[in-house]
Amino acid sequence: MNNIILCGFMGSGKTVVGKELAKMTGRRFVDTDELVEKKQGIPIKAIFEIYGEDYFRDLEYEVCRESAALKNTIISTGGGAVTYERNVQALREGGKIVFLDADFETVCERIGDSTTRPLFQDKEKARALFDARRPLYEAAADITLDGSMSAYKTAMEIAQMLK
Ligand code: S3P
Repeated sequence: MNNIILCGFMGSGKTVVGKELAKMTGRRFVDTDELVEKKQGIPIKAIFEIYGEDYFRDLEYEVCRESAALKNTIISTGGGAVTYERNVQALREGGKIVFLDADFETVCERIGDSTTRPLFQDKEKARALFDARRPLYEAAADITLDGSMSAYKTAMEIAQMLK
């Protein structure tokens, strides 16, 4: 297995860092959100609108299990994934979980006014979710890194740890 699993809030840099890290280490990169979209054939926003969040979470669980079974892969997870114990259990079997701990202001800057995230439509609600989830990310992770650094620097730190 030997995978690296990136977790953290929306906008914490999981996808950008993951792609950078995959390039640096010659590993494959997968993104659980992308895999969910491929499975259902429509964007996440539409899955939430048509089928609801619980349906999305079931697909996300399937994809977490499938991703964890891959080898030598960098896995970027959706911002809610490791807030569910069943996903943490599945992912932990596949490798080390790294929490990208970015502060809320950084997250907001990175997300900007993108409308693709159903759970980041209102800044106050997103802040409450951010505060509620932070301890869950910490509890799920084997390693916590400052997610406010540049993607390159964060990826370098992870790559060093893998040596
Ligand atoms: C979610 C985060 C999103 C995506 C979905 C739900 C969440 O992923 O999985 O919109 O619950 O925080 P990103 O963290 O990649 O934006």
